[in-house]
Amino acid sequence: MAFDIDMIKKVYQDMDERVNKAREIVGTPLTLSEKILYSHLWDGNPSKILERGKDYVNFAPDRIACQDATAQMALLQFMQAGKDKVAVPTTVHCDHLIQAKQGAAKDLQRANETSNEVFDFLESVSNKYGIGFWKPGAGIIHQVVLENYAFPGGMMIGTDSHTVNAGGLGMVAVGVGGADAVDVMAGMPWELKFPKLIGVKLTGDPQGWTAAKDVILKVAQILTVKGGTGCIVEYFGEGAKNLSCTGKGTICNMGAEIGATTSTFGYDDSMERFLRATDRNDIADEANKIREHLTGDPEVYNEPHKYFDQVIEIDLSTLRPHLNGPFTPDLATPVGELGEKAKKNDWPIKVDWGLIGSCTNSSYEDLTRAASIAQQAVDKKLKPKSDFGINPGSEQIRFTAERDGLLKVFEDLGATLFTNACGPCIGQWDRSDRKGDEKNTIVHSFNRNFSKRADGNPNTHAFVGSPEMVAAIAISGRLDFDPMNDTLINEDGEEVKLDPPKGIELPPLGFDVKDNGYVEPVKDGSKVNIKVAEDSNRLQLLEPFDPWDGKNLMGAKLLIKAHGKCTTDHISMAGPWLKYRGHLDNISDNCLIGAVNAFNKQTNFVKSQITGEYDAVPKTQRQYKAEGIPTVVVGDHNYGEGSSREHAAMEPRHLGVRVVLVKSFARIHETNLKKQGMLGITFQNENDYDLIQEDDTFNFIDLENFAEDKPLTIEIEHKDGSKDTIKANHTYNETQIGWFKEGSALNMIKKMNK
Ligand code: F3S
Repeated sequence: MAFDIDMIKKVYQDMDERVNKAREIVGTPLTLSEKILYSHLWDGNPSKILERGKDYVNFAPDRIACQDATAQMALLQFMQAGKDKVAVPTTVHCDHLIQAKQGAAKDLQRANETSNEVFDFLESVSNKYGIGFWKPGAGIIHQVVLENYAFPGGMMIGTDSHTVNAGGLGMVAVGVGGADAVDVMAGMPWELKFPKLIGVKLTGDPQGWTAAKDVILKVAQILTVKGGTGCIVEYFGEGAKNLSCTGKGTICNMGAEIGATTSTFGYDDSMERFLRATDRNDIADEANKIREHLTGDPEVYNEPHKYFDQVIEIDLSTLRPHLNGPFTPDLATPVGELGEKAKKNDWPIKVDWGLIGSCTNSSYEDLTRAASIAQQAVDKKLKPKSDFGINPGSEQIRFTAERDGLLKVFEDLGATLFTNACGPCIGQWDRSDRKGDEKNTIVHSFNRNFSKRADGNPNTHAFVGSPEMVAAIAISGRLDFDPMNDTLINEDGEEVKLDPPKGIELPPLGFDVKDNGYVEPVKDGSKVNIKVAEDSNRLQLLEPFDPWDGKNLMGAKLLIKAHGKCTTDHISMAGPWLKYRGHLDNISDNCLIGAVNAFNKQTNFVKSQITGEYDAVPKTQRQYKAEGIPTVVVGDHNYGEGSSREHAAMEPRHLGVRVVLVKSFARIHETNLKKQGMLGITFQNENDYDLIQEDDTFNFIDLENFAEDKPLTIEIEHKDGSKDTIKANHTYNETQIGWFKEGSALNMIKKMNK
């Protein structure tokens, strides 16, 4: 089952009614983003104007997609909800846990050996709860979603930041944390701050070497890595019509690199062509019936400054190809100008690798454009100076590209064909050519190029470009190569020039695939057993958290008073800990190890009030837990900023921390704490943070009267016998107080199901 056409018909039916209603209420013409948002309200018909950048709104997404790294904890949590099936169509994609090393066949075999238990677990949970499962090797989540599930006007969430890729097919698709996905799987709404809107008007037609990728490389330069925060970026204009659907996907994909909530494009002929080419004529037919709702109103695009919060204009006819990097995706340089810049900054000119693929750029069009450059190298007797690696986005793409001879072109140049998976894009790359921290340069068609992202080496300078530009640079082996103006010397000593790339938007013989790697869940999953080995160190079934005993919390000890920035990375570090994402107890050994202790300014070194000794935070907290002593974490401003990772809330909860008391919270983390049944509260007077001493004991003396809008009173006993009494604010509403009482939001859902 690739998609449910009846579900899509229902979305379109609702859209017809709700868009008109929204237009009436808002009183102006609407952007596409507003049409999709207003027609996916949890409460049904729009009833009031929603203020951009201000109102928190409950939505009802149409789909959910999860990748194998984040799906583990999401599904472990969902299993706690007491449901027989997911409430919203959901898929799981095995793509992040496959390391690139020797090539597709061997790498896949190794992944199946090393992560076998994780894949088996994900497959069995999917089967039990009606979730579509895409096996390792089936492809990268966002390419598979674009080819199978995305549809114009739809709303989806996914537990991966590049879920936004589906905007290429006219969706509002947003990357979320596991806890949000679990809510929606369990039949609850998804909350989002109503986004602001950035309009990008595209004019002209891309020429020669300029690709869709260059649009987002330019937008990233203009908006920087933070410029899209809290916004949907909506692309429109004649230029948009000159881009393929998959090209639009590339642009939306990298919207994550400017921090945008998501990006989207209005429905057009390129999307219709893509839907029909991917065997979805019925969706295209339905979309055509409500075409006017699947794009912004004409008035909006005619006078964008009146309707968007910010407007950018880009002329595709004059846009030059760019390479962005190193170390940040917004550092854009037009190709041809990198020589000087590299010299000045001491970036290595020699390019070691050219990597093509990832969820960003692995469409048929991408491969044909890159292959047209590779073919010229063969024809013109140019031996590539860099190594080539290819990661096809899906088995359907790989199979079709092989059939059409595209992969052979790369193989003739000595390229390594990696698995249809993330590989080098997420640091799953065992590079054979370099060990250690040597300075070197690579170019790739991926999206992110932060330090260590591809190969774990902080001195790898990664530059992002279009697949065809990556191919050209890899053939030349030089970062300063400009294929539009420069020549190369071939094996016969002749001077040759590369012609501009030639691409084919969609396979003329159609897509084909033998085994796409999809496993349909059984209809009745009640007999399916979930596979988790008892001695596994990667997976652990969750136990429900204890409910609150209804009493005031007395005698809680200070675990740590965090100084300064305390992000979700400080609370639950990534890196080597990622392998324990499905094992709450094991990953809890990283709990708060990055937080700076305010009393000694050291990390992971706190005083135990039991022994008086200093030790690691998790170890100290485990002692408190063993003794049944509740604890409190104190923090500064914007505590928990960073990612929406639910582990940052689950780990302290699992280890027995009861309260997080801070000057202010990052909102998503605050909600995550509430969902896990923690007490997340803020100092009424932020200077009270200074009253907290290392040996303090906390008494929450009116918790028994915990109620909406009612501050809590905390008595703080200091070591010298003195006491302070302070007030703390909270933002719990009635439902959230219910979560606290029950021990977690999931406990509450389970109770309601019963
Ligand atoms: Fe995978 Fe990289 Fe995309 S990690 S999902 S290919 S951003």
